[in-house]
Amino acid sequence: MDAGFRKPSLDNGVQSSMYLEEETNKVGVVSCIFSLKEGVGSLAKALRLFEEKNINLTHIESRPSRLNKKEFEFFISVDNSCAKALDEVIEGLRTQISGHVHELSRDKTKDTVPWFPVTIHDLDRFANQILSYGSELDADHPGFTDPVYRARRKEFADIAYNYRHGQVIPKVEYTEEEKDTWGKVFKELKTLYPTHACREHNRVFPLLEKYCGYRQDNIPQLEDVSNFLQSCTGFRLRPVAGLLSSRDFLAGLAFRVFHSTQYIRHSSKPMYTPEPDICHELLGHVPLFADPSFAQFSQEIGLASLGAPDEYIEKLATVYWFTVEFGLCKQGSEIKAYGAGLLSSFGELQYCLTEKPQLYPFEPEKTCVQKYPITEFQPLYFVAESFEDAKEKVRKFAATIPKPFSLRYNPYTQSIEVLDSTQQLRNLSESISGEMGILCNALRKMK
Ligand SMILES: [Fe+2]
Repeated sequence: MDAGFRKPSLDNGVQSSMYLEEETNKVGVVSCIFSLKEGVGSLAKALRLFEEKNINLTHIESRPSRLNKKEFEFFISVDNSCAKALDEVIEGLRTQISGHVHELSRDKTKDTVPWFPVTIHDLDRFANQILSYGSELDADHPGFTDPVYRARRKEFADIAYNYRHGQVIPKVEYTEEEKDTWGKVFKELKTLYPTHACREHNRVFPLLEKYCGYRQDNIPQLEDVSNFLQSCTGFRLRPVAGLLSSRDFLAGLAFRVFHSTQYIRHSSKPMYTPEPDICHELLGHVPLFADPSFAQFSQEIGLASLGAPDEYIEKLATVYWFTVEFGLCKQGSEIKAYGAGLLSSFGELQYCLTEKPQLYPFEPEKTCVQKYPITEFQPLYFVAESFEDAKEKVRKFAATIPKPFSLRYNPYTQSIEVLDSTQQLRNLSESISGEMGILCNALRKMK
């Protein structure tokens, strides 16, 4: 099956908001969506604007509008060479024909909103947009000269490359050598968790042992862990074939999707890995994604990234680094680790709570510009007051990111809603008033 293809789903008779064509994914292509009121000749009038500017449309599709049922939307793409003329056409569409025009492009040189996934199925597009394949190892990687390990890494990368949303994550028969490596890491780290990990991690870990096969002699399966997470917070795992760009990786979090590796580090150095592996994902990340406050915090970072300019993606990736990967938090009078990079490293988990590193309060506007090393222990960490507090701070920081619209995740449709029309705001207020009704009712019953 074609990598980008999926069948359009039907929701109350309205076709899915996803366009099948992947035009907006292609560099050199500029796309836009505009809406038209149903009426004879309205499309012809719009197309005439393109014709007058000598713009050749490379793609056009239509669908019923998501914003107004009486209108239709048209998705068009043009070659990048027409980008300037397209600006004038868009202006014409806005002023003469239609109020709603969205311009979409992956071309970073143009002043447009970068493409972002709108439905959870759109994450399938990342599978073939990886920066490097998982079997390509650097010369200093412990498995670089091991042909068996490299072949194994290719097997894992292929599983992820072919994976599509909604499928069961293929189970892996781990070898005795792989299980042995996992066992060493598991055993050592488990001795530190009671004293070094945050209480959320320690609360979830026994549940993972009970329900997901977390044991010294067993590497848990991503599918089982993903199902467990979905029952806790709606977070899910999906295998990833290699390195994703920060933009794509963060976008997954907006949908409560965590891109996870499935391979394990090389057996020659069980306490070291130059890249994320299944020990890092399952021991470091997974326990926290089962915590509702942390899950919400992570999703806030993801939502902030959608459609953000490149410089803000870098800032958000740095915030992610100092929180989800290397965060510390206050718990009573103590400081504990919640970052996955710490919770999956025997050495750094001990080091981070000593007197050696510098500690600063987590302030997104300061944290986001802090430089950091990636191959050694962190010289400084940021300490969150709580996940709730960190979430509020990220939310305020996100509001400073220049974007022409606000976004909201709709968990029922697993899609992103762009709040840029009165109808959308009406829908949101109805939803909030429904929730308020439930809250008031529950409060009344508790009296
Ligand atoms: Fe990580």
